Amino acid sequence: MQPLASRPHYSFSCDPALSREQHRRLAAAYDPITLPRLAATGVTTGWRCLDAGSGGGSVARWLARRVGSTGQVLATDLAPPEPGGRPPLTVLAHDLRHDPLPEAAFDLIVVRLVLQHLPERQAVLGRLVRALVPGGWLQIDELDISYEPPLLTPDEQAARLYTRFLAARSAALRAAGADPHWGRHVPAAMRAAGLADLDPQPHILLRSAGSAALRLLLHHTYHLRDQLIAAGLTDRQLRQVRTVMRDPVFCAASGVLYSVQGRRPRAEEVS
Ligand SMILES: C[S@@+](CC[C@H](N)C(=O)[O-])C[C@H]1O[C@@H](n2cnc3c(N)ncnc32)[C@H](O)[C@@H]1O
Repeated sequence: MQPLASRPHYSFSCDPALSREQHRRLAAAYDPITLPRLAATGVTTGWRCLDAGSGGGSVARWLARRVGSTGQVLATDLAPPEPGGRPPLTVLAHDLRHDPLPEAAFDLIVVRLVLQHLPERQAVLGRLVRALVPGGWLQIDELDISYEPPLLTPDEQAARLYTRFLAARSAALRAAGADPHWGRHVPAAMRAAGLADLDPQPHILLRSAGSAALRLLLHHTYHLRDQLIAAGLTDRQLRQVRTVMRDPVFCAASGVLYSVQGRRPRAEEVS
């Protein structure tokens, strides 16, 4: 593991073209899980929402359509692709670790696949809870990639190579300060931060030919290339594992996306 001072701030490369493509693939894979969960909170016209670490902004744009002209959606990211926005959507460059957040300001906050990358995740979570109005909802969607077995591969050697690639990806994420298993800890972290009515929902996707989940993982072989090489893979192995994943027979289980909702208790609910 690298010493803290020399660790990058975020696991993935900041190359704009690679990030844009990652955000497109994330939306294709996970919006079908995230958006119905958000809808279940009852988010509607007039709500004030925050999408923290909003990436390509697909979730924030969906929220903006729900809250309409009487609501507000703030989308923040370390490097938003298009800062600015148009009412009800505002897009801001903002570092969740250091930059201020308003207190008791949001009816709904969503954070997807961000906190597991931040070593300061529990402190950030505390600030996100304080940014909710009493009674407001927080939804955190995060992965646990400890169990992602290959199910069908062209042969045994391909299965071994795929498994080796997954191990290198976990090592690369850890080296940048991420916790690739944090998804399983989200419900307890939200309870420790003072939230009530916790509702954890686990989701596993199938990585099969042409699927959004497989397209996302294939992109990691490019987006995390330098980190994967530092973790011990070679470019030749990366080419080989892409060939394995593009084989029509290939399929595998994704890691578990835990979508967890909790509510900030109102004053009368706090004993
Ligand atoms: C894996 S992407 C997820 C993007 C989006 N939430 C989604 O699910 O489509 C992680 C995002 O977190 C942002 N990010 C990383 N560190 C951050 C920080 N300290 N403050 C705010 N955003 C951060 C990155 O720029 C990136 O857009």
